[in-house]
Amino acid sequence: MPAAYSFTDSKALWAEAQQLIAGGSQGTRQPEAEEAPIYFERAKGCRMWDVDGNEFIDLLCSIGPILLGYAYDRVDDAVRAIMETSFQSSMNHPIQLELARILIDYVPCAERVRFLKTGTEATQAAVRLARQITGRAHVARHGYHGWADMFKRGCGIGTGVHHGSWDTVYEFDGTAAGFYDLLGPDCGGISVAVDGGRETGYRRFDAYCTYRRIGGYEVASGLSTGRHTVTVTVDSASFDKRAILFEHNRPDYDEHPDRYDGLWWYLGGILLNGHEVNR
Ligand SMILES: Cc1ncc(COP(=O)(O)O)c(C=O)c1O
Repeated sequence: MPAAYSFTDSKALWAEAQQLIAGGSQGTRQPEAEEAPIYFERAKGCRMWDVDGNEFIDLLCSIGPILLGYAYDRVDDAVRAIMETSFQSSMNHPIQLELARILIDYVPCAERVRFLKTGTEATQAAVRLARQITGRAHVARHGYHGWADMFKRGCGIGTGVHHGSWDTVYEFDGTAAGFYDLLGPDCGGISVAVDGGRETGYRRFDAYCTYRRIGGYEVASGLSTGRHTVTVTVDSASFDKRAILFEHNRPDYDEHPDRYDGLWWYLGGILLNGHEVNR
């Protein structure tokens, strides 16, 4: 980056934002580097100008949606035109149908559409739809899907995320239950309760956890025939991973401590002697 770049005004606005905006940023992103632009006041095509007058090319297209470039005249003219003849209303506008027809035409698997306003809303709707159609409760996920409780990792006092939205609860008809999971450096602990009984803690991290491998655990066996419920809660309490690793594995921890940051549980599959009862 040329030495001439300065971010003085961006930094001043960011400092003020700490007092005015929760988390400082309206977007999902916090500034990731000390010397980087934070506030932009103008964009056209692929170019953006920050409040300090620096010019950039946005190679990410605003993380996706700005496919045609910023302030694309045909789009902006159409928005201006509709603003002059319509208004924000809870009623419908015929243009919704026009867009729906175009999307169905372009997206091969789309039969009908539903417009939502944010990614978080859309991912929650997708999960509800999947549960409704499949009649199944569990959802496999990876990566960022928005800030809804159900997509947040772990729980714990102070995060505001109720563990109920994250617990894995499964009901089954049978006599034994267990799971396959993925162990690795970023794994944490879980607590398991069978039929609402006492919670037992299981560390999904052990002395070998410098690499990923498949694990498994039997959480209940020899149960009486009939319906049982298993509730798994991901623990948010951190623990001393270095102390758990074998002596010869500790250099890996010392070299890459960030690899060990997580407290995840990667559930692969549920094992049952019996069958799951879909709820
Ligand atoms: C894959 C994915 N899902 C959901 C979201 C959340 O979208 P929003 O911030 O509009 O709620 C994002 C945002 O970056 C995303 O990348």
